[in-house]
Amino acid sequence: MTKELVLHSSSALQTRQLAREFAARLKGGEIVFLRGPIGAGKTVFVKGVAEALGMKSSPTSASFSLMKRYQKGKKNLFHIDLFRLSEGEVFNLGFEEMLEDEKAVILAEWPDPLASMMPKDRLEMDFTLCGADKRRIALRANGPVSQALAEGLWQSQNK
Ligand SMILES: Nc1ncnc2c1ncn2[C@@H]1O[C@H](COP(=O)(O)OP(=O)(O)O)[C@@H](O)[C@H]1O
Ligand SMILES: [Mg+2]
Repeated sequence: MTKELVLHSSSALQTRQLAREFAARLKGGEIVFLRGPIGAGKTVFVKGVAEALGMKSSPTSASFSLMKRYQKGKKNLFHIDLFRLSEGEVFNLGFEEMLEDEKAVILAEWPDPLASMMPKDRLEMDFTLCGADKRRIALRANGPVSQALAEGLWQSQNK
């Protein structure tokens, strides 16, 4: 396991700026698991990534509340939120479309129910509330793709 890299955000705007730096480093095929309590900024980050990529949301085969697809041309970004769901409940819900697209970027909040279906090389982003607008974001990589992404993002804030 690789060491943890820590980012800091002092505002929702700064988290969106981090999302922009992150988006600029995506090549397609990245998987990100976002963890942390409600209100930590996970969704702010995901929306910031989609916005930075100039993507629009479009219909998905899976339930809208669980998965939202953002698209630009042939590029797909899937935003998943499995809050309060269990592995048994997400099995067979229509995630095949997403998993078959090897170049899709997958950003999942409350990702545990999906973990066994997903490749191991994924970036874990752990959000912690440290004050009204202060957030700590810990990055942990589990393979070469997520490692490069984590280091690139960390360097953008520590140059
Ligand atoms: N530094 C910050 N980063 C992200 N969001 C922040 C920050 N400071 C305040 N906020 C606010 O916290 C809330 C985060 O909400 P959201 O992204 O939906 O959380 P989550 O998806 O983790 O439950 C938003 O209302 C946002 O404006
Ligand atoms: Mg959320």
